[in-house]
Amino acid sequence: MSPTTGSSAEGSEQRIDGLLAAMTLEEKLGQLTLRTADLVSGPKASEVGTDDIRTGRVGSLLHLRDAGRALEIQRIAVEASRLAIPVLFTGDVLHGERTVFPIPLGEAAAFDPDLWRRTARAAAVEAAADGIALTFAPMLDVSRDPRWGRIAECAGEDHWLTARFAAAKVAGFQGKGLADRQSIAATAKHLAGYGLAMAGRDYATVEVSDRTFHEVYLAPFAAAVAAGTACLMPAFTDQAAVPMHGNARILRDVVRDTWGFEGVIVSDYGGIDELVQHGVAEDLAHAAAIALQAGIDIDLMGEAYPKGLPEALARGLVAEADVDRSVRRVLALKAALGLFDDPYGRGDPAFFSRGPIPAHRKLALEAAQKSIVLVTNRDAVLPLDPAPATLAVIGPLADAAPEMLGPWAMYAAPDHAVSLLTGIEAAFAGTRIRHEPGCSIEGGDETAIAAAVAAAREADRVILCLGEALSMSGEANSRGNPVLPGHQAALARAVIDTGKPVVVVLSCGRPILEPWLFEAVDAVLVTWFLGSEAGHAVADVLTGSVNPSGRLPVTWPVALGQVPIFMGRLPTGRPARTSEHYTAKYQDLPVDPLFAFGHGLSYSRFEPSNLQVESRTIAPGETLQITVDVTNHGPRAGETTLLLFSRDPVASISRPLLELRGIGKATLEPGEKTTLAFELVADDLAFIGPDLQPRLEPGAIDLFVGPSAEANRLLGTRIELR
Ligand code: GLC
Repeated sequence: MSPTTGSSAEGSEQRIDGLLAAMTLEEKLGQLTLRTADLVSGPKASEVGTDDIRTGRVGSLLHLRDAGRALEIQRIAVEASRLAIPVLFTGDVLHGERTVFPIPLGEAAAFDPDLWRRTARAAAVEAAADGIALTFAPMLDVSRDPRWGRIAECAGEDHWLTARFAAAKVAGFQGKGLADRQSIAATAKHLAGYGLAMAGRDYATVEVSDRTFHEVYLAPFAAAVAAGTACLMPAFTDQAAVPMHGNARILRDVVRDTWGFEGVIVSDYGGIDELVQHGVAEDLAHAAAIALQAGIDIDLMGEAYPKGLPEALARGLVAEADVDRSVRRVLALKAALGLFDDPYGRGDPAFFSRGPIPAHRKLALEAAQKSIVLVTNRDAVLPLDPAPATLAVIGPLADAAPEMLGPWAMYAAPDHAVSLLTGIEAAFAGTRIRHEPGCSIEGGDETAIAAAVAAAREADRVILCLGEALSMSGEANSRGNPVLPGHQAALARAVIDTGKPVVVVLSCGRPILEPWLFEAVDAVLVTWFLGSEAGHAVADVLTGSVNPSGRLPVTWPVALGQVPIFMGRLPTGRPARTSEHYTAKYQDLPVDPLFAFGHGLSYSRFEPSNLQVESRTIAPGETLQITVDVTNHGPRAGETTLLLFSRDPVASISRPLLELRGIGKATLEPGEKTTLAFELVADDLAFIGPDLQPRLEPGAIDLFVGPSAEANRLLGTRIELR
């Protein structure tokens, strides 16, 4: 799992030995120092100058604006610094570089690991052309809280799905191998439990059992390590009162010793310094010592390593050998990325000179189409086929191209995305289209609602484009009340009151808690932030030229009072029964969510049947084939996704009501029937015991297959684990 592999490994070891022997302490600390350059993504900026590169005081840079600058700086490092160590250029390439793909929560809705890999590949090619050699992605925090702004950056609530996402993204970013000019190193972040930030408030403390932490929150990172991720980044948060930036029990004992991770661990933005605010370090020197001992190699935008480590060494809190160990890992990563042999290999100022990359735009369209989730569609109001004579396109998100990019689209031209309005106008060429924003996304007043209502009255159909601004999701963008912001609810009610058929297109980075809206309108498309091709993708689904296939990767609550609500919860001794008082329910809310995990409609009508298992028993080391038939009873061709779940009904500890185990997909013509096969690996049925060790307990296992986690739509059978 070391980033240094193959026959070059020996040569690279020798080079690293030689460099280490020649380096001053200042140069060593420079290799452990990462500074932001042109753009800033945290509470403070840095003033890094070419002198810092020439003297070797800064070994890695974040957020450089373009390839030309990267090459200039690389030339200084390679040709004018004493030891000629190349700079590692890094970037937050979360869902695309110049071409923007859907936000991760949206892309997760495609339930399609190959798509996830392909978009990461395209992003890597573009990022490498911009000079970037390492990305701080994939983000693998499982989140079950729509208040948390960073839920937009993750693959949703489920650790099995997130583990698939992890493997696909690492494979996509790292491509043929780190040394390839079109590969970038992946950083699985933020290890771990960040998605549990209390009450959804970013950076807040975390309370979780050790067992759940290992089983749910660490699992995607284990998958990323198994897939060969070059780097890891710890979370800003704590686990059991130990901040992750100083958590040797997890970073060293689990990640390095048990998983065998030999790559680089890079801190989050100032995360080591923050050990002081967490109250576990007296000062920067102490913080630096704790982090270094825990196994963190690079200090991203902190003072702890560059300023605190010399003092920590003087006080005897760490030894120079500890510093050397981290420097060695950083140099090994630079070598594995080919930076010593081919320092100018990444960074191609001409790459984007002819504009967007057509193949990537095409992929952005495909990804956006597959990420859209049709959550309601009364009386088959969608698709709008045949096209209506007049359409009112209403709402503040209709003509809002820059918003379509979502959070963390830092390197893309903000106005290059296709707005919903532009996409709709292009797709409905013969239709009379009137657009009225009705109100602002947030703030403003209600004066423009009247014009929107007038436009709705004149139209055959209304497309109501509602949702959040991109700035409401992502880091430090938690919302205590994730409803429609500003006057959008008032706008929606006024438009609905016209009695015209209303289709809502909801742009959002999280579940939006407006249950009445889903009841009151005819159809809702959850479109997240779809990226560069947003408008075209949404228009394709509206016309029916694309049959929607996305599924919710997160349970959609009725109200905040239900949070956390998720598929993998444990049973209670008193399951909710409306007729019985002493059961686990609310007086004023249902216990079921508005939409279950996996919910998503299609213009086709798929029906699964005939769930079969190849054997009624399965033993450790074996794999079981499970098959199910699925028929398209609808009028259109389309893709269906079926999910395999398991439940362990009796074990030594309570097991979740449902555990996701597999994804099956089929594209079927009207009337067509096929058989989908899933493979269940017996050893995957192991769970983490109270001693934090995996255990595989014999006994019954219930298997379920269905379109979502909604209990009444599941087919079930039982097998025996021997
Ligand atoms: C942050 C984020 C992290 C990101 C880093 C660099 O504060 O938490 O996800 O990679 O800064 O921009």
